[in-house]
Amino acid sequence: MLHAQELLHQLNGCRFGHPLYVYQQIGSTSDRAKLLAENGAPEGLLIVAEEQTAGRGRGGRAWLTPPDSALAFSLVLRPALTAEQAARLVMLAGVAVCEAVEQVAEVQPRLKWPNDVLLNGRKFAGLLAESALRGEALEYVVLGIGLNVSWAPAPEQVDFPATCLQAEAGREVDRAGLLRAILLRLEARYGQLSDEAAFPTLFADWRARLVMLGEPAELRLETETLAGVAEDVAADGALLFRLPSGEVRRVLAGNLHLRPASAV
Ligand code: BTN
Repeated sequence: MLHAQELLHQLNGCRFGHPLYVYQQIGSTSDRAKLLAENGAPEGLLIVAEEQTAGRGRGGRAWLTPPDSALAFSLVLRPALTAEQAARLVMLAGVAVCEAVEQVAEVQPRLKWPNDVLLNGRKFAGLLAESALRGEALEYVVLGIGLNVSWAPAPEQVDFPATCLQAEAGREVDRAGLLRAILLRLEARYGQLSDEAAFPTLFADWRARLVMLGEPAELRLETETLAGVAEDVAADGALLFRLPSGEVRRVLAGNLHLRPASAV
């Protein structure tokens, strides 16, 4: 079980993670963090839960967090960014999670546009950045991160193959240590969000970790599914998706699936 005292000890010296609220069970850490952010919670506030009963993923999908098996947390950030720069938070979170997992478990995660973290082609973590605006500026962002540590959902529970960190790493992973590592990587790269000279490094590191670039893919959008090639990403986080006609669509949100080469 995750214990508040142990987490407090682990987060000693971290910039993020204060104040810290630890729940044995909650609906969604992101819902709670949003409520607190709306009421003026400071940057760095962290909600961690052992179990979520109404965990949310992108597009209103459920995110499962059974007890004793996962890491689920939401962090309030107040970066100096405009609304158009909001996708930078997902880049930051993706790179930070990959770097922390590499350190802690000695495996090499990759990212799947826009929000998934993969090991050996299977998803073991998801990122959810929810922003509130004040005019053209971001007022706050709730960064929700969920990692399957020792359990993964069954195939019928998900629309993309899932796995868990321990199965891929072949070793036990201490969740409190993993949380500390992620927060430290978020802290180390946080300045790259709003420093225009440093942001290209964050963008390049995110792009370098993306799977499927240049590959035939199926892009499932809200109202249609497109077949084509996931050609590249742009600095605003958009996917550049080439259609068979040669037209390149800029897409800010959607679900990417690999297509077998024979279907091209
Ligand atoms: C996705 O892959 O669609 C994103 C999943 C994000 C899940 C995390 S778990 C902690 C936080 N609380 C939630 O309800 N969702 C996020």
